[in-house]
Amino acid sequence: MNANMASMAALVDVDWDKFDPWRIQAVRHRLSDHPLLQRDQLVELGKRFRCSTRLFTFSNDADAAANFDAVARLYPNRKTVEESLRNIKEAKAWVLLRHVQADPTYRALIDQVLDPIQPEIERKDPGMYYRAGWIFVAAPHTITPFHIDRNHGILLQVRGTKTVYVWDAEDTEVVSDRARDVFHASHNLELVQWHEEFRERAHVFKLGPGMGVYMPLTCPHMVETSDEPSTTISLTYSTDATRRNAMVHVMHDLMHRTGIEPSAVGTHPLFDKLTYVAASTLVAAHGPGSHQPACPSLAHHSAYAIAD
Ligand SMILES: [Fe+2]
Repeated sequence: MNANMASMAALVDVDWDKFDPWRIQAVRHRLSDHPLLQRDQLVELGKRFRCSTRLFTFSNDADAAANFDAVARLYPNRKTVEESLRNIKEAKAWVLLRHVQADPTYRALIDQVLDPIQPEIERKDPGMYYRAGWIFVAAPHTITPFHIDRNHGILLQVRGTKTVYVWDAEDTEVVSDRARDVFHASHNLELVQWHEEFRERAHVFKLGPGMGVYMPLTCPHMVETSDEPSTTISLTYSTDATRRNAMVHVMHDLMHRTGIEPSAVGTHPLFDKLTYVAASTLVAAHGPGSHQPACPSLAHHSAYAIAD
C-alpha cells in the first residue's frame, strides 16, 4: 500500500512530520461510531472473555497510588462483567478487556486501525510487531492508577471524557531508570510510586470522543474519568527500538543484581549497543522458557501479542 492510499484509509490522524516515536503526541481518530465499540458488542466480548485473564476489573475506590498489580484483589468489582458493561454509569467500576486481538473479530479492528498507519510509523520506527488491543470501560470518577506499560501505545477516546496525565519517559524523577530495569525484567511495578506533586510536571490531555494521545514505551501515566462514563481503546505494539530498549534494561537489572551499577539507558549509546548484543545472545542461546525477561515480546517476534 502506498503512502497516499494509507492516509486515505487511516482511521487515526497523526501529524507525521512531527511524529517522533519517543515523544508524547496528540492524535485524532474516527472510531467512535465503529460497530465493535458500541455497548452491546462490548458486552458480548466481555461475556466471551468471562473467567479468563483477558478480563481485568476493579472498583472505583482505587486511587492514583494504588498498586496496579494488586488493584483487582484490593478493590474487587463484585458485579459481573455483563452487569458492569451494560450499566457502567452506575457500576462504580473500571473494566479492561485485555488482548482483544485474541478475538478474531477484534483482531480485524486492530488491523483496520494499524495497517494504514504502519508505513508512516515505520519510516521513523521500523519493525512493528506484537500488536495488541485493550478496551477500557470506566464509570464516572474512576482513576486508572499511576503505572508504566511495556509497549508504545495509541490511546483513543471513544465515548465520554477523561483527563490523561502523561510524563516523558526520560523524566527519571517521576520513574527512575532502575524502576524501568525492574519492570522490564519482571513486570514488577514496586518502584513505580505515585506522588501527588507529579501532576505539575505532566503533559495533560483532556480527551473527548475523536481525540487521543500517542504514548511511547514506559511513559508513566495516570487517568481520571470525568462525571460521565468513558470508553477508550488503546492499540499497542513493539518495534525493533522498543525491543532494544527493553533488553538493555533487562541486562541492567541483571548487572545490578550482581553488584554492577551501569549508567542509565541512553547515556552511553555504544555501551547500550553492546549490552543489547549480549542480551540477544543470551536469549538466543537459552531459548524460550529459560532465563529470559518477563515480557514475551522480547523472546517472541510474533505479529500479535501473546495473551498472558
Ligand atoms: Fe497504561
